[in-house]
Amino acid sequence: MGRVYFDNNATTPVLPEVFDAMRPYFGERFGNASSIHHHGQETRAAVERARESIAELLGCRASEIVFTSGGTEADNLAIFGLAASGDHVISSTTEHHAVLNSCKHLECLGCDITYVPVDGRGQVDPEDIRRALRPKTKLITLMMANNETGVLQPVEEIGKIAAEADVYFHTDAVQAAGKVPISVKKIGCDLLSMSGHKMHAPQGVGALYVRKGTLLQPMLYGGSHERSRRAGTENVPGIVALGNAAELARRGFENGGDAAMTALRDRLQEGLLEQVDATGVNGDGAPRVPNTTNIYFDYIEGEALVIALDLKGLAVSTGAACSSGAIEPSHVLTAMGLRPDRARASIRFSLGKQNTSQEVAFALSLVPETVSRLRELSPVYHKQAVSN
Ligand SMILES: Cc1ncc(COP(=O)(O)O)c(C=O)c1O
Repeated sequence: MGRVYFDNNATTPVLPEVFDAMRPYFGERFGNASSIHHHGQETRAAVERARESIAELLGCRASEIVFTSGGTEADNLAIFGLAASGDHVISSTTEHHAVLNSCKHLECLGCDITYVPVDGRGQVDPEDIRRALRPKTKLITLMMANNETGVLQPVEEIGKIAAEADVYFHTDAVQAAGKVPISVKKIGCDLLSMSGHKMHAPQGVGALYVRKGTLLQPMLYGGSHERSRRAGTENVPGIVALGNAAELARRGFENGGDAAMTALRDRLQEGLLEQVDATGVNGDGAPRVPNTTNIYFDYIEGEALVIALDLKGLAVSTGAACSSGAIEPSHVLTAMGLRPDRARASIRFSLGKQNTSQEVAFALSLVPETVSRLRELSPVYHKQAVSN
């Protein structure tokens, strides 16, 4: 077996059909989508087709989609586009740094932020959000699915609370889009972020849903691209790929692709829990996206396991890609109440559309023996074995 990649929450490979769709836009279809001649018309039409496709995935109007350079920019545009000095913003302790660090910067700009806690399964209590509301609350920004655990937040309930309070609601759906069906109407959100490279389109493209009538302050000043919401010549190949990936995701849901992904993930998870003692699933019992499982293997260092598995050809991660190499335990897992040593002993397995049951079998043959080997080297494990 060649290399097996189970780190799809960090980034996904571009699917061959997505690559085929974008290829002509690197070659003969090179026009600037703002040009009025044939070349521009051709790329403009492609951009608008992609916009339609994403709107169909999210259940909104095409005019409500703004293309960005990725999830981070979409989150920043939503947050800084709405909140200003003196405003109060509600978020949570387990957000991605694209949201957390935006909120930190808002604090420097004179905003007050409430970071609502999560329970042991990683979910916020909607009543905590309701209680956090103040007369000056402008925005609630809460992720749909967590990148480390895959835990889904009760976004529909939060959408109702936001609507009742007449407060804007943004959800970072970067790890949900393409994995679970999304309806912005059902969620009741005003803004929703997504990113191409988490759903088999390339890195460097994303989109923000902006509900019609939402007055957003742009972050970039320049031409009147994207209806003056995001200046800059469009990344046509990336946008075409994102539109294509959205269509594949939509068709996948129609054909039960999310159930097949859940079955594959569950086989991996159950096999690991069965074969390895002193393990558990972080976020167990909460609704999760179908592709992710985050498992702690007590008495090991997660980083050591990631390296040992990589040497044998299996790519997994300790959580957020940007935290790799960091000594601090994950802010998501510690917010869920995990002890620091258990948070450090946790590994994220995240599957993609390209993964197979043979690859899951490979992981099931590799991970248990690797964990045993690392535990043999662990003084804490031996001490525990003696005291038992
Ligand atoms: C939940 C979440 N939000 C935002 C981002 C940032 O997206 P991008 O890498 O497209 O900037 C990520 C990326 O890991 C993510 O997982």
